[in-house]
Amino acid sequence: MRSGSPLFPEVASTMASRVDALYLFLVGLTGFFTLLIAGLIVVFMIKYKRRAATEIGARIHGGMALEITWSVIPLIIALAIFVWATQIFFAMSRPPAETMNIYAVGKQWMWKFQHLDGQREINELHVPVGRPVKMIMTSEDVIHDLFIPAFRVKADVIPGRYTHLWFQPTKAGEYHLFCAEYCGTKHSGMIGRVVAMEPDDFQAWLSGGMQEGSLASAGGKLFQDLACNTCHRPDAQGRGPVLQNIFGKQVSLQSGETVIVDEAYIRESILSPSAKVTAGFQPIMPTFQGLVSEEGLLQLIEYVKSLKTDNPVQAVRPTAGGPAPNENTPAQSPQTR
Ligand code: CUA
Repeated sequence: MRSGSPLFPEVASTMASRVDALYLFLVGLTGFFTLLIAGLIVVFMIKYKRRAATEIGARIHGGMALEITWSVIPLIIALAIFVWATQIFFAMSRPPAETMNIYAVGKQWMWKFQHLDGQREINELHVPVGRPVKMIMTSEDVIHDLFIPAFRVKADVIPGRYTHLWFQPTKAGEYHLFCAEYCGTKHSGMIGRVVAMEPDDFQAWLSGGMQEGSLASAGGKLFQDLACNTCHRPDAQGRGPVLQNIFGKQVSLQSGETVIVDEAYIRESILSPSAKVTAGFQPIMPTFQGLVSEEGLLQLIEYVKSLKTDNPVQAVRPTAGGPAPNENTPAQSPQTR
């Protein structure tokens, strides 16, 4: 299981040794019972061999103690596995509050990665060692699945949705990256590499490609190009909802329901604006289906996330009943979301 064994991937994330421990336990447990049962079969075969042609076995009725034993022991073992595996599952599905976010878009047949600072990569993903990284992933076409064996993480990448996956690399190096969901002819070629770097090296790498500007600023430009800003104005005088401070908040809909403003809701509101209209507004927004690429959507989402009243560029006075600036938790600062 350690590096060096050709049978197992490297142990390169905080999750890897936890997954390995459970995996080894399951293999060990299975091996133990396989040997026990196979061994007992052989032993009983010899011990209770029919020795004379006329020999007839004794009749045995009941054996309550034995039956309880072989029911209760497996029950305890199964429940222990369940609790153990569930703990790992929860740890995997709940990223820490402070993560470095990277967007991933899968398409036939490549992986596109987009860092918040603006760096884009194809089939290559640079990450720092020692920091939790959250991937926010979607697909342009069919279902893909991002799989990084050395980090023991794997999650479906689904068109029209944002799925998440997080890991914290523990060791600098290069690791394989796969698509783990059959997605067409060149599925097997939808591979790449993860480069885990020491924090200083990672910073140097990051600052090596700043020409394109941050994702949020690209989103801000797109926001103006698409004229979103004519209706979504920061002063509550527009025909659309104010977007400042809206990310992560709960909003009321016309239908009386409420929704949390997350990546998926922003995406839906751009592509199918009439699906969930904010209470108090008319469903007059046109759809931008076909006008904005998946990457454009990510830029717009990142722009909306960056709209904070504590951001001097976007400063607006909080309206009565509106969210106050101090409601921003550190986890919602532009650097971390
Ligand atoms: Cu993408 Cu398989």
